[in-house]
Amino acid sequence: KSLKRLNTFGVDINARNFVEISHPDQLINLFLNKEVVNQPLLFLGGGSNMLFTHDFEGLVIKMSIKGISAHVEGDHVFVEAGAGEVWNDLVNYCVDKGFAGIENLSLIPGSVGASPIQNIGAYGVELKDVFYSLEAFDVSSLTIRKFTKEECEFAYRESVFKGRLKGKYIVTSVTLKLSQKPNLNTSYGAIETELNVRGINEPSIKDISKVVSHIRVSKLPDPSTIGNAGSFFKNPIVSADIAERVKKSHPEVVNYPAGNGKVKLAAGWLIEQCGWKGKVVGNTGTWKNQALVLVNHGEATGKEIFDFSEEIIQSVKEKFEVTLEREVNIF
Ligand code: EPU
Repeated sequence: KSLKRLNTFGVDINARNFVEISHPDQLINLFLNKEVVNQPLLFLGGGSNMLFTHDFEGLVIKMSIKGISAHVEGDHVFVEAGAGEVWNDLVNYCVDKGFAGIENLSLIPGSVGASPIQNIGAYGVELKDVFYSLEAFDVSSLTIRKFTKEECEFAYRESVFKGRLKGKYIVTSVTLKLSQKPNLNTSYGAIETELNVRGINEPSIKDISKVVSHIRVSKLPDPSTIGNAGSFFKNPIVSADIAERVKKSHPEVVNYPAGNGKVKLAAGWLIEQCGWKGKVVGNTGTWKNQALVLVNHGEATGKEIFDFSEEIIQSVKEKFEVTLEREVNIF
């Protein structure tokens, strides 16, 4: 089966086998089949954070478990969503109902089930700020297990599912703890600016959602027309020493405190300084308005995009002695 339409990079590769799961029970039946377990497995959500560099000689399991339900408790509301829901559909559901907390995460591509894996975040908010719990299928015991927020070990673009428990669990649903009393986060400069432009003094969560969507559309390429997976690299977190050295040679470097004396550098800025912003290299390149986003200008292969990302890593290393790490999963 071609996975071209199932990854937002739009890379045309094939999977030997493919199955879609719309109910958790189907996972048990699938895993009871020995032939299934004896091949490489790949769980796929929205395909918005992965780069395929060759055909997949195994089984791709597309997670399509649907359903959203809400349960109010005082000022709080617990919203549970199936792993296969589109993340932005969940945002719209919550914004419409006045459930506050994820309006800053509007328009992030991908599925609900993928959101905790890398603790998605944007415009001053991370999933962990509103996350309550999740349910996941244990591929060895074939049972469903609950994970609390602490057990997910969230950090910047990280969770236990990318580390210690990689490949051991598959998320089936996510529960968020939202609020009926909005506690707006407008700390990200562009949100304030855009609210001012629109003359909005007392924004609602709907206003925030609209403003964030506007900022994203103006900065980031739409995956339905230009293949991409959002930020390709993480913003590197470096020691105070390294940050000082970079600041000395480049006083204008965009940076943020990252706790424990560490400093987060803006990867997009580093890449732009190396001259890559908006560059077209064969079928790939970086986005004209955001150098951190690698794009497929049409017929790029995964290998071509991967090789280009190597080139970027090398040039940032040469210029700044900082090593970029990919945020996107490579297969
Ligand atoms: N910058 C440049 N040149 C560029 C790109 C950025 O100089 O080509 C500078 C900007 O001027 C700005 C700073 O770098 O001062 C940060 O840029 P931006 O606000 O666009 O955010 P980012 O750090 O590049 C992160 C997330 C995004 C998220 C935005 C907004 C990561 C890896 N990326 O990007 O998340 O939308 O913040 O909060 O943390 C994603 O993960 O896929 C993603 C899009």
